[in-house]
Amino acid sequence: MKCRICETECKMFLDLGRQPIANNFLTEDQFGSEAFYHLGVYFCPACMTVQHRDCPVCSDVFNSTYPFFTGTSQAMIKHFAELAELIKEKYLPAHGQIMEIGSNDGTFLEHFKDGDHMGFDPSESVNRIARAKGIYVYSKPFEGFPVENSKRWQGTTDVFVSANTFAHIPDRHGVIRNIKRMMSVKGIWINEEPYLRSIVDKLAYDQFYNEHVFYTSIVSMQNVLRMHDLEIIDFDLLPTHGGSIRYFIGHKRAERNEKIDDAIKREGLNSFEVFDRFGKDVESHAKRFRQQLIDLKRPIVGYGAAAKSTTVLNYCDIGPDIISRIYDTTPEKQGKFSPGKHIPVVAYSQFAKDDTQDVVLFVWNHGKEIYDKERNRARNWILPVGGAI
Ligand code: TMP
Repeated sequence: MKCRICETECKMFLDLGRQPIANNFLTEDQFGSEAFYHLGVYFCPACMTVQHRDCPVCSDVFNSTYPFFTGTSQAMIKHFAELAELIKEKYLPAHGQIMEIGSNDGTFLEHFKDGDHMGFDPSESVNRIARAKGIYVYSKPFEGFPVENSKRWQGTTDVFVSANTFAHIPDRHGVIRNIKRMMSVKGIWINEEPYLRSIVDKLAYDQFYNEHVFYTSIVSMQNVLRMHDLEIIDFDLLPTHGGSIRYFIGHKRAERNEKIDDAIKREGLNSFEVFDRFGKDVESHAKRFRQQLIDLKRPIVGYGAAAKSTTVLNYCDIGPDIISRIYDTTPEKQGKFSPGKHIPVVAYSQFAKDDTQDVVLFVWNHGKEIYDKERNRARNWILPVGGAI
């Protein structure tokens, strides 16, 4: 495939096979009509971007039935409240303008609803909730927002926020172009996403699913930003989503940034060999994981029907004969079946009555919150991917 960023020929380092749309939980009568996509993960040797070749069209994923709601996690509610505090203290001037790309159910933007704000999200399921909170939402993709037609939007935005959304958008140049046009002279773009170095270190291949298109390292992020005269000014590493990075991005500056240059050197994600080794390690881990479950010879249930469980279940070929049901707190998923493998999703309220000892913790990224919540009963928690919590 040709790189979406620089059109160089990319090389695949991990083949996760045929995968259904990761969040497409379905009813029994929909079993025959599921769409599958090939999930290969590719590396570009020129700009170092990691990406998928195939991805579903946006409206097949982000639509009126999109079932991921940020506010289902107490930890994420707290995370966004803290980010809002930081922005108010350091980055947003009085009467300043803030935009969120992928505003979901408004968990973040509700902290700014009394000021000049706007959220962008193509999924009506989440927009309904955000609007009910009094948040102004534009229900179209940000990259298609016609900035060039109106001076009203040019150079006016002081803070952009995108959290686990920029990586979902195939037209990466379109997003950055619009940000460049809209950002005020001292403006900042705060972008969070799972950090590729953490994915590699934790063997967290379940972060690869077909809602995403890209997985960024500092080096690849800097490369694409520089094409638009933007650059990384600073970054923080975060514990969210199993290991994330928060980039602070601004207009390109004249002076050298030693912190970023050093981080790129230390990061070591600039060669195909690193990813090739990772791909091989994933393959053998997945085989061992499947065998580990079979060898238990006991009933097993799952905890958290997250999008990333779809990758593991389909790649490892694990169906209801191995994991009989998955408990989940999201009402929109309950009573449905997991994409591809059709494991029943059961309301979390039933979990306490279930005596099954062995539980696969698909939402290992929320591990601390969950171990705390479930500490009253001893269970054998099994992690689906390599890393510790
Ligand atoms: P994610 O944030 O890792 O994508 O996972 C979200 C899914 O996990 C969502 O369907 C809700 C579910 N979940 C639980 O069932 N119990 C929990 O304690 C948490 C934090 C999430």
